[in-house]
Amino acid sequence: MEQNDQETIDFSKKWFKGRNLVIVTNREPYAHSHAEDGDIVCSIPTGGVTAAMDPVMQEMGGTWVAWGSGGADKDVVDSRSRIKVPPIKPSYTLKRVWLSANEVANYYSGYCNEGLWPLAHNLVSKVRFDNFKWKAYVRVNRKFASAVLDEAGDRDVVWVHDYHLMLLPEMLKKEKPGLTVVFFWHIPWPQHDIFKICPDHKSLLRGICASDLVGFHIPRYCRNFQECLERAFTREQIWSAAMPRVEPFPISIDVRDIERGARTARVKKFMKQLRDRYRLDGRIVGCGVERLDYTKGIPERLEALEILFDKRPELRGKFTFLQVCSPSRGEISEYKSIKTRVVELTNRINSRFGSDDWTPVVAFHRKVPFEHILAMYRMADVAVVSPLVDGMNLVAKEFIAAQVDEKGILVLSEFAGAAGSIKNAIPCNPFERDSFADSIYRAVAMPPDERKAMIRAARDEAGSYTVFDWVNGFLKAASEIAGLKSAGLEV
Ligand code: F6P
Repeated sequence: MEQNDQETIDFSKKWFKGRNLVIVTNREPYAHSHAEDGDIVCSIPTGGVTAAMDPVMQEMGGTWVAWGSGGADKDVVDSRSRIKVPPIKPSYTLKRVWLSANEVANYYSGYCNEGLWPLAHNLVSKVRFDNFKWKAYVRVNRKFASAVLDEAGDRDVVWVHDYHLMLLPEMLKKEKPGLTVVFFWHIPWPQHDIFKICPDHKSLLRGICASDLVGFHIPRYCRNFQECLERAFTREQIWSAAMPRVEPFPISIDVRDIERGARTARVKKFMKQLRDRYRLDGRIVGCGVERLDYTKGIPERLEALEILFDKRPELRGKFTFLQVCSPSRGEISEYKSIKTRVVELTNRINSRFGSDDWTPVVAFHRKVPFEHILAMYRMADVAVVSPLVDGMNLVAKEFIAAQVDEKGILVLSEFAGAAGSIKNAIPCNPFERDSFADSIYRAVAMPPDERKAMIRAARDEAGSYTVFDWVNGFLKAASEIAGLKSAGLEV
């Protein structure tokens, strides 16, 4: 860890003044499963929240409470469902919460990902709420609350994350009012006209409002949240409740760790493997890396690539696009349809333009190890990050951090939260395929001097604000609140 990152973490630790930190997410940072030979293996689930929080917890220590989703998770924990992680350098405790198949279907796939997820992303035609799923959501939030209460001392700091656990702050405060409960929302927060589609929106707002601090990535989501409070409740109700402090804290990544990772001999070896396997030598390389999710704009990107190969025949045979589609939420029909669409489009492009020695789009429909992703980032001349809407998008930041050869240009959707902080990228509008294709072309055709200048500026931008700065800002605010509380003052 670089000295300035270490100093940032040391500051955060100091602010806690002997209080323990308990963080809570739905997704766990490490999952155990049975390999084919019967051995138990540990893997890192895909997802921005766990990727961002794991380096922080490794430095801060404490307890992380999350759903034990791995097939062998129960085989490796102690009698209190706890295990020290990461396996190589155990530095914090992971406490697992067990969910039944029914709860996974109704709380996780159902209420969270067929209801709240599309709602928060403004995709109202995909939203589906059912009362039995709401009941499962309440039940599972209670399970998480009881696991947290087992771990947290009366005056500890509990940091709750994301849309799966909106009722948790209220449940925790009811049992242990001395806790400092802070909440971070990792996805967009919609306007009230959208949010009120959820039949339980008032209960959800009440749940979150029991927190002492609520953080969002950007000011617009804070404004939307506050607008929801003002329109859902009367002025008297708002005044009589203890309202949380609401502030923007844009998340980032462990920049130094990615830079270091991208330079390793193993990543260089994977770059060579990719080059040989997909005949990339002498070709322009593009990449896209995401969970296979309809918010990420993958079909829109493929359609733009098709237009690009139509409009710019000189790129045929010369430009290969590598697209990682990590399987995600596969039980949900919308996710099954997006996969079908991506496969159809990939096949169509490859059969229209491909040749014996050139495949225009190579799609990986599997979980790709992070070192291979680093190899793609490092060798790419262009990365396309084109969500229709996204809270922040950490792939955009990772790609820039991995540009140790100062080679790759980022094409970035104007609808990603990251667009507010990354100025040195080529903007695109994924809803308008022609101009989207032109944006990709601009990145592909950019002259070397201009490229270098843009990448350098992007790296400077990315390097000046890391995940440790984010956590430091958030926990500093949390510790101010905790300090005020222990001094007996109102927050
Ligand atoms: O970033 C939003 C988020 O839902 C995280 O909470 C989650 O870990 C990630 O996306 C991946 O999704 P899932 O946990 O459903 O696989």
